[in-house]
Amino acid sequence: MRTKLVAGNWKLHKTVAEARALVEELSVRLRGLGGRRAEVAVMPPFTALWAVREACSAAGLQLGAQDVHWEEQGAFTGEVSAKMLRDVGCQYVIVGHSERRAMFGDTPENVGKKAAAVLGAGLVPIICVGETLAERERGETMAVVRAQLEAAVAPVTAGDAPTIVIAYEPVWAIGTGKNAETYQAQEVHEHIRGLLRSAFGEGVTDAIRILYGGSVKPSNAGDLMSAPDIDGALVGGASLSADSFAGIVAAAENRP
Ligand code: 13P
Repeated sequence: MRTKLVAGNWKLHKTVAEARALVEELSVRLRGLGGRRAEVAVMPPFTALWAVREACSAAGLQLGAQDVHWEEQGAFTGEVSAKMLRDVGCQYVIVGHSERRAMFGDTPENVGKKAAAVLGAGLVPIICVGETLAERERGETMAVVRAQLEAAVAPVTAGDAPTIVIAYEPVWAIGTGKNAETYQAQEVHEHIRGLLRSAFGEGVTDAIRILYGGSVKPSNAGDLMSAPDIDGALVGGASLSADSFAGIVAAAENRP
């Protein structure tokens, strides 16, 4: 059995004070759930990572970053390395988010380099893949996801593979309020698991978690995560309030 992972991608939101307050509130809400079975992670902006590190660890929350550069150090103005992210307490790093691909020049090859750098620093990459609405309408979903996934996992060794996390985030479902139907997501997750099986073999693939992302909220999270290949959620908007994020965690655990 794969432990479910619920991860909150805060994107470009929260000052240090706001981030601290959200983690505090979240820790209270999650305590209210009693013993937790799902793993929970938050991904604040870089500027708030250090400030929330201790509160996260006290609350049993994992910490992650939203992006990384693949080089360890050097003349790369504005960039942050995986080693630096480990240094501020991160366990996870998102790579290849569709917003980075669409607006900040992430190529399939660069996403692979980022995933390898994250693993090299002993952290876990959350590798995002997903099609646009136009690609879905042209019937290209499986091919697009395949190309993105294969490029991203090309530098990943079979030894590292069991720890990686994949996030299927259809671009048309991100921030739109219109989530993929559970059967649509499951179909793509099953395809992803098949591709991973070809790359890494059966046993390794059984351990890899595949998250769904795109307008996840407390009202749809339970249904989505009941599908056999949906091992958790990568949450944007609904991770910005402790109420809705805790509601999603509760749904991941089948609790009222
Ligand atoms: P929303 O949950 O706001 O749709 O964002 C999803 C996402 O992009 C998480 O990485």
